[in-house]
Amino acid sequence: MDLRTGPRALSADKLSKSYGSFVAVDGISFSIDPGECFGILGPNGAGKTTTVKMISAVSPPTSGHLDVLGFDPAREPRSLKAVVSVVPDENNLDIDLSVRANLEVYAGYFNMSRAQATTKSQELLRFVELEDKAELDVDDLSNGMKRRLLLARALLNDPRLLILDEPTAALDPSIRHQLWDKMRDLKARGMTQILTTHYMDEAARMCDRLIIMNGGKIVEHGEPLALVKKHGQPDLEGVFLKLTGRKLEE
Ligand SMILES: Nc1ncnc2c1ncn2[C@@H]1O[C@H](COP(=O)(O)OP(=O)(O)OP(=O)(O)O)[C@@H](O)[C@H]1O
Ligand SMILES: [Mg+2]
Repeated sequence: MDLRTGPRALSADKLSKSYGSFVAVDGISFSIDPGECFGILGPNGAGKTTTVKMISAVSPPTSGHLDVLGFDPAREPRSLKAVVSVVPDENNLDIDLSVRANLEVYAGYFNMSRAQATTKSQELLRFVELEDKAELDVDDLSNGMKRRLLLARALLNDPRLLILDEPTAALDPSIRHQLWDKMRDLKARGMTQILTTHYMDEAARMCDRLIIMNGGKIVEHGEPLALVKKHGQPDLEGVFLKLTGRKLEE
């Protein structure tokens, strides 16, 4: 199925999130088209994960408006969770279960029959190239393999929107390339993606458009190459440095 048909994938209007008196996300507005890989770029504490949590119905906005695939995450979390998945920034796999069981048990949350869960899990193990590791304990996987298993788990419900929160943080270069290849495969199928990262090279490589966040605000937005040109910088790192006086990776 081509997922690129239909209305806008996401629109956020003056979206804010406060924790007590601290404003973590401060009135951001942006929209994402179906089939796009959209980047949320920013240094530690910029508000990337907070934004992801609002989009994925984990934490409600304090104010502003959010439409994700036609749903209001705060009001329709169940409908939303059927069509959106998150590859989280931390490993929350079940260490008491095998690699395969991590998928099969999770599949149960999506009303799949046992047979469907088995078939789907096997298909996804093949996609992330973990078939030969299926019976291992999760703890016996390398970090890169754990990240791939998290990706497979996020694909169990065939999401229309896949959110990847710092998918390649702390991975070595060849493993990062493996994950990027998988993301490209999914994009070629028309899956909309949101990618948060503080690696400029990752954003430049993967994202059609991106926002650059700093201190909860959007400081710049656009296509990676266009931004580099506009600011007369060699790369996105330079753009960020010019805009904020800070380095992205600290
Ligand atoms: N539950 C919370 N209670 C209080 N403050 C929070 C909470 N969650 C996040 N924050 C604060 O909000 C700000 C943004 O955090 P967030 O996790 O969104 O940043 P991030 O851009 O994802 O950073 P990183 O690159 O380190 O993952 C930070 O200052 C953080 O301390
Ligand atoms: Mg984060």
